[in-house]
This record gives sequence, C-alpha cells and structure tokens, in this order.
Amino acid sequence: MSLYSMFQKPGLNGYGYSTTAEQVTVGLDLTGQTFLLTGCNSGIGLETLRVLSMRGGHVIAAARSEDKARAALEQVSAKGTPLACELSDPSSVRACVEAVKALGRPLDAIICNAGIMALPKAVQQHGIELQLFTNHIGHFILVTGLVDALTANGRVVVVSSSAHQRAPKEGIRFDDLAGEKNYSAWGSYGQSKLANILFTRQLAGRLSKGQTANSLHPGVITTNLARHMNPVVSTLFGAVGSLFLKTIPQGAATECYLATHPEVAETSGKYFSDCNLATSSKAAQDDQLAEKLWSVSEKIVADL
Ligand SMILES: NC(=O)c1ccc[n+]([C@@H]2O[C@H](COP(=O)([O-])OP(=O)(O)OC[C@H]3O[C@@H](n4cnc5c(N)ncnc54)[C@H](OP(=O)(O)O)[C@@H]3O)[C@@H](O)[C@H]2O)c1
Repeated sequence: MSLYSMFQKPGLNGYGYSTTAEQVTVGLDLTGQTFLLTGCNSGIGLETLRVLSMRGGHVIAAARSEDKARAALEQVSAKGTPLACELSDPSSVRACVEAVKALGRPLDAIICNAGIMALPKAVQQHGIELQLFTNHIGHFILVTGLVDALTANGRVVVVSSSAHQRAPKEGIRFDDLAGEKNYSAWGSYGQSKLANILFTRQLAGRLSKGQTANSLHPGVITTNLARHMNPVVSTLFGAVGSLFLKTIPQGAATECYLATHPEVAETSGKYFSDCNLATSSKAAQDDQLAEKLWSVSEKIVADL
C-alpha cells in the first residue's frame, strides 16, 4: 500500500482508492459465469484473470498469441480458455470472435483491458494511428462481433484512463486519424482513451435492456504499459511509485467491480474510478462526438 493511499477516503459504497480486486469480489461466487478478457498476460489484466478465476469464473483469456494466454493461465493456476487476439490485426480479432462463438459459452462480461501507451513516434496500422487502432478499433471489432454472445444481463467493461483528458481539443481528430500532423505521444494516447469512453457510451444505448456497458480509469500503476516511455522517466516514475501509485491488485479492482458486482448490475453508460462513479471530460460526455466516432469506426472496420 502506498503512502498516498493511506490518506484516501473510500467512496459511498465503502470501496475506494485502496480497494483491491480480491476485496471488491469478496463473497461473490462466479461459478458458471464466463468472462472474456483482453490483455490477460500482464499488469492489471493478469491480476483480473487471477481474481475472477479464484472466485470461480471461467475466463476466456485473450493475449496477442495463444501461447502468451496459456502461459498467463498457468502463471495464476487458472483453468480458463486461452485465445489469441492481436488487436492491431483485424483478422486475428475476427478469428477470436469466431473462436469465442464456437465455444458456445454465453458471455457474462467482456473486459476490454488491453492497451498500449505513449508511442514516441506516430505508427500506423491500416492507415490509423496505432494507439487508436489497438485501444479502440481492435476492441470495437471484438465487442461488436460478440454482442450477440452476451447474456441477457451481460456487461461490457472498457478500461480507459484519466489520460482521456489529454486528448486534442477537438476530441477525436477525424481529419487526421493517421496521426500525421503535430503528433504527440500523450495526445494520441489520450485520444484513444477518449474513444474508449465514447464507444462505451454509444454501446450502452445500443445494447438490449438488461445489458450494460461502462468504462473506467484504473488508477496509476507501475506496469509494462510504460515500456514506450523514456527509460529514465519510467525508471524514476517506478522508483517513487511505491509512495503514491496504486499496486497492481488495487489497479485491477475497478474492472473486476464493474464486471461482477451486483450493485452495478443495472448501471450503464457511466465512467468509474476507484470503484465509484467518476466525472469524465466534457468531450467524453459529448453524444454527438460518440455517434460520429461510432459511424466512422464502422466505416473503417467495413474496409478492413
Ligand atoms: N498502468 C496504468 O497506470 C494505467 C493507467 C490508466 C489506464 N491504464 C489502462 O489499463 C489497461 C491495462 O494496462 P496495464 O497497465 O496492465 O499495462 P500492461 O501491463 O502493459 O498490459 C497491457 C496488456 O495489453 C496487451 N496488448 C498491448 N497491445 C496489444 C495488442 N496489439 N493486441 C493484444 N493485446 C495487446 C499487452 O500484451 P503484451 O504483454 O503481449 O504486449 C498486455 O497484456 C490499458 O488499457 C491501459 O491503457 C493503465
């Protein structure tokens, strides 16, 4: 537990900054439930895999390769199903969709956890900036492909970030989705995380009654996410992190909460932090922007 966390008060529901994934799922028996989780092999995804499995859930564990997913399951002694899902490769995501459908297990939750952050230079995939492609478009293909596999009370949980506030002024740069003009590592990461929230809000309005979609900021946690940052900065960050950052078990709490907790079974279209409702940026609450992002994403995906 960090020094900072000792001064944080819990929210109305008793959970807060310091709550861990284990604590927020205490007393829940997830036997018979199935969760699809992306980015299962590292950071808060690996902890989410561990805790959901420990509570009896069957996790369809997705990683860039099936070997990575299998190794993650072994690492946390879980019995789930390993699957490959390389989010920057539409054919891999579509193969994952088909493999999930073939399992014939209705999904109680899809947890879009995987992500990349702050690439120092603009890199494109199919003409789209890679963070936007991986964090948003890849998950867009996955979730829209699997909506029919959700249970009647199925939940979609999308891991965004408070960094969505660092998105460009116009929110999403529809006129420069390749990120070729004035590229900024954090601006582009922020844009992709804003896209996560906008996508979730639109999805919430499109799901059947009973199904939900929510997004979240997990906190700031030392994980492999910092791999693209300047090594000096990330080492310093990691070194002082123990004083003020969340631990990985704390970082995994909000996604586990949204995927399983009975008190949010009917909450949809909202943004959470520290296992409580939080306020997202003005752009993240702009439904016209969300609608435009949805239709642009559909067009992009149709051509891939
Ligand atoms: N850590 C933080 O402080 C923080 C703060 C706010 C939001 N978040 C969000 O939390 C989520 C989890 O991040 P983390 O901190 O746990 O980072 P992490 O340890 O780097 O985990 C990220 C996961 O995403 C996977 N991934 C990356 N690119 C992928 C791709 N193209 N296809 C499929 N999987 C891919 C990684 O796989 P590989 O290991 O194979 O690369 C890894 O499993 C991310 O969405 C991130 O944006 C984190």
